[in-house]
Amino acid sequence: MTKTVHIKTYGCQMNEYDSARMADVLAPLGFAPTARADGADMVILNTCHIREKAAEKVFSELGRLRALQAARARDGGRMLVAVAGCVAQAEGEEILRRAPNVDLVVGPQAYHRLPEMLARLTRVGGGGVLDTEFPVNTKFDHLPESVTPPGASAFLTVQEGCDKFCTFCVVPYTRGAEYSRPVADIVAEAERLCANGALEITLLGQNVNAYHGAGAGVGTDGDSWGLGRLIRRLAEIPRLQRLRYTTSHPRDLDAALIAAHADEPKLMPYLHLPVQSGADAVLKAMNRGHTADHYRHLVDRLRRAVPGIALSSDFIVGFPGESDRDFAATLRLVGDIGYAQAYSFKYSPRPGTPAASIAAQVPDALKAERLAMLQACLADQQAAFNDASIGRTLPVLLERRGRKPGQLVGRSPYMQAVHVAAGDEALNGIAQVRIAGAGPNSLAGELATEHGVSATPPADRHMATEAYP
Ligand code: 5AD
Ligand code: SF4
Repeated sequence: MTKTVHIKTYGCQMNEYDSARMADVLAPLGFAPTARADGADMVILNTCHIREKAAEKVFSELGRLRALQAARARDGGRMLVAVAGCVAQAEGEEILRRAPNVDLVVGPQAYHRLPEMLARLTRVGGGGVLDTEFPVNTKFDHLPESVTPPGASAFLTVQEGCDKFCTFCVVPYTRGAEYSRPVADIVAEAERLCANGALEITLLGQNVNAYHGAGAGVGTDGDSWGLGRLIRRLAEIPRLQRLRYTTSHPRDLDAALIAAHADEPKLMPYLHLPVQSGADAVLKAMNRGHTADHYRHLVDRLRRAVPGIALSSDFIVGFPGESDRDFAATLRLVGDIGYAQAYSFKYSPRPGTPAASIAAQVPDALKAERLAMLQACLADQQAAFNDASIGRTLPVLLERRGRKPGQLVGRSPYMQAVHVAAGDEALNGIAQVRIAGAGPNSLAGELATEHGVSATPPADRHMATEAYP
């Protein structure tokens, strides 16, 4: 009998990948994914702990689920509730104590054992089951092959965990030490994704460019491959048209990766390279291991390799001890670099991290003021970057329907969202799109060829090689 599972994903793309893998793990047990929580046989909250009151949000969501569980019980059924992800890892037992309606608590490195946990739950009857162990390598060894259709743009986790210990960040505690999957496993997974329709793969890792996986092939045993070499290998998959990776650390952006940007056309001209702050004193207190000028220099090298590369970043304002001068240095760095897009956050003290116990916390009102200034500056840069696309023809991977009928939405090589008037026959393909308009967060355009996507017959459409300037 088919049962249904509703998975709600919070936070980063790695959680999106994990949610899809959890669906794969549950499929052999007869669980089919559903978009609705009410009436589901199982609800999984795949949580994020990076900022704000993440745990509190999860507890209030769990409160809301209680009503759905009661309704299900009235109909004679049972709705299981599981908490997964980084809040599960960080809070563990506390979740079962505070929310007795939770049946399972499963950490990000343990969800391959969901079937055993469900069996244990049936055996023990009441009371929750918890698994927050950390064997990241065994997780990948035990995950089944994906049964979830990947879509035209797919995620593939190649690396997990982080050894950097930035003083503001919980990731080294919730995701554990750095682990890189072997090249052969990644290539096999990428080939499967492409055989199932993927044209673009985004390689994921908390510290993706620290990737150092065991090499593939005869005679290469013991070899360690960096991300640049891995990208070149994946680019050999004929159907694959586009590669991206996220998230990178400036310290691990090596010459081989920059060279891959320069001469691997499938590697998209876009890089999310978080800098966090433009002030050296703050970068030092954050334990980032680089200065603002080191970052500027890296960007110069990247731009020499790929003129026109679109850059994105993360920023934290109001890190403990951040002075007006420090913040001004961040604005100066933003002015120097010129970002195509960026994410910025108020510093949020995370329990157990070193920065949370620094005495000189910045008042919230000042954080809010700095955030507004920074975001205004970043929004101007993003608008200017988008405006400069008007009149160009860009290859767009049309990956979903838009809100309006007859509209598709996709991404330019530079990661901009592009709305295109086009029929479903263009969905899941790469189309040449003439950009006619630009808004703060997206572009609008029309197909550059008369009858849909391109001059190539529909069957070959996916194979059309992209050209971008
Ligand atoms: N407070 C605010 N922002 C944070 N980030 C990570 N930890 C914190 C924190 N404690 C941001 C960083 C990181 C992004 C994923 O989230 O900018 O790059
Ligand atoms: Fe967190 Fe720093 Fe590791 Fe990124 S590099 S995951 S910000 S500790």
